[in-house]
Amino acid sequence: MARSNGKGDPQIAAICAIHAASNGPLLPILHDVQGHFGYVSDEAIQQIADELNLSRADVFGVVTFYHDFHRKAQASHTLKVCRAEACQAVGGREVWSAATTASQRSEDVDLEAVYCLGNCACAPSVQLDGRTIGRMSPERVAGLFSAGGHSGAPS
Ligand code: FES
Repeated sequence: MARSNGKGDPQIAAICAIHAASNGPLLPILHDVQGHFGYVSDEAIQQIADELNLSRADVFGVVTFYHDFHRKAQASHTLKVCRAEACQAVGGREVWSAATTASQRSEDVDLEAVYCLGNCACAPSVQLDGRTIGRMSPERVAGLFSAGGHSGAPS
């Protein structure tokens, strides 16, 4: 049962109120808060905990358990680089190193390590905004950053 105290963000209070009567409201609330704000801030975690009469640790634990919840604003693009064995065996380490270096110069692309994109046959693989790209090289991955995430690189 939500117990809004009138403090905090009114949008979060409204989202909590929508889901208050449902069974297990925390995940739907977190999804809606992230859908509205793009991420779940520390302030949102505290407010949701207050609204649901949970501890901050309870809400924080759920947010950090699920990889798809973000705790800060995201860049315009997300580049996932596979760091699993099949990719590592054919140059994935060098791709990751080049991506790490390039990411330090870009605020437009978030870099994430992932462990298999299901594209092992075309390793090393990356995924840019959900589009899997195989046979990646250090030069090509750096180009993804310099193109602002729009490389047009073939898969
Ligand atoms: S190990 Fe990299 S795509 Fe499977």
